Amino acid sequence: MQRIRRVPFGSLLIAVVFLLLAAACTGERSRRLTFAVGGTPSELAFWDGLMDRFQARTGIRVELLRQPSGTDQRRQGLVISLASRKGDPDVFLMDVVWIAQFAASGWLDPLDGPDGPDPKAFLPGIVDRADLYGSRLVALPIFVDAGVLYYRKDLLEKRGLAPPETWDRLLRLAIDIQKEERKTNPGFYGFVWQGAQYEGLICNFLEVAGSNNGGIGFRDGRIVLNTPENLEALAFMRDLPHRWRVSPPSVTTEMKEEEARLAFQQGNALFERNWPYAWLLHEVPGSEVRGRTAIAPLPHFPSGRSVSALGGWHVGISAFSDDKPTARQLVRYLVSYEIQKELAMKLGVCPGLKDLYRDPDVLAVLPHFSRLGDIFRHALPRPSVPYYAQLSQALQRNINAALTGTVSPQEGLARAERDARAIADRYAQGSPRP
Ligand code: GLC
Repeated sequence: MQRIRRVPFGSLLIAVVFLLLAAACTGERSRRLTFAVGGTPSELAFWDGLMDRFQARTGIRVELLRQPSGTDQRRQGLVISLASRKGDPDVFLMDVVWIAQFAASGWLDPLDGPDGPDPKAFLPGIVDRADLYGSRLVALPIFVDAGVLYYRKDLLEKRGLAPPETWDRLLRLAIDIQKEERKTNPGFYGFVWQGAQYEGLICNFLEVAGSNNGGIGFRDGRIVLNTPENLEALAFMRDLPHRWRVSPPSVTTEMKEEEARLAFQQGNALFERNWPYAWLLHEVPGSEVRGRTAIAPLPHFPSGRSVSALGGWHVGISAFSDDKPTARQLVRYLVSYEIQKELAMKLGVCPGLKDLYRDPDVLAVLPHFSRLGDIFRHALPRPSVPYYAQLSQALQRNINAALTGTVSPQEGLARAERDARAIADRYAQGSPRP
């Protein structure tokens, strides 16, 4: 009798425990996402806190996959997962220049549909140029970037000078003020920018070349780089550290966004080319330049106009995610007014939603936002081709070789053009454009 009573009780217990575990596991699986982000330490800390709050609000646990801050390394990490069709990460941030290739590879799940965000709420021209693949919406801007010139307001104002509008003027001011400042600060330079061999160099080159009516051209379907306008621009860039010595020698070997920002923030530069994120960091307590900086459009050559490269980070959902509805919920949260506003106010980055550029709270912290709309409207995109990563690497290598003096600017451009055309031809032969 005793044995007969014990058997059903034990089985029942096991069954209950099993059912509870199974329920917990299924619940856990369907309410868990992975989200790949990278960036500066303050950016990572922001995402961390935000995902805790998202979980508290929705019950969805989001595990952050932390990536480095450099765009090239971030891309490599994602490509490895996506090319092997892994389910993680479900959601990720993409540099604007990757979107065409990721979409052409079939790695992005469309974001449009009845529950999708309204593309018209975003800055005009951004979604159309970057986030559509065919007629499908495959990404949305989390923040938008355009290159700007930071300058030491105090050092110009005390001499009664205005910020430079042309590159010649920037050079003149850099030479003169560097000479004077060096008397008390021997580590002072006129101009810091991004000349290391990486993606940021392409942005800097496009801005200087574009402001001379040059850039990465396409004529009769062929890439054109070796032009007199580009040559003048590249020679100017090379001369900054080598001939005029107004940029540090490290500008062409090591200087990326953060190195340039730190040099300027430590009070060691008059001008800095960077993205909008640097503004709030320059203003943190303890910064040597707090309250002493201002922003201007980048200078241009006499016959050109100011050009900013269009950058920025967009969110997408992996085509291999095993929980796309939950991933869509996270994307809707990230592009909501509330979170985009926080991103702007806490990180100083430029949100994708256009109404935030008129939001009084945002303008109180970031008054320069009222002028950025114009810079974005004229920002120059990098070529939106599915072989962009290969093209960029060929340009990085050859442009950097010209900057370091390994080859002449003429030779650097000739090689860049030859390599770029070979890449485009290979792509056209191997995989016709979708
Ligand atoms: C910024 C821009 C991105 C660009 C990168 C280059 O992160 O948003 O578009 O490719 O800088 O370093």
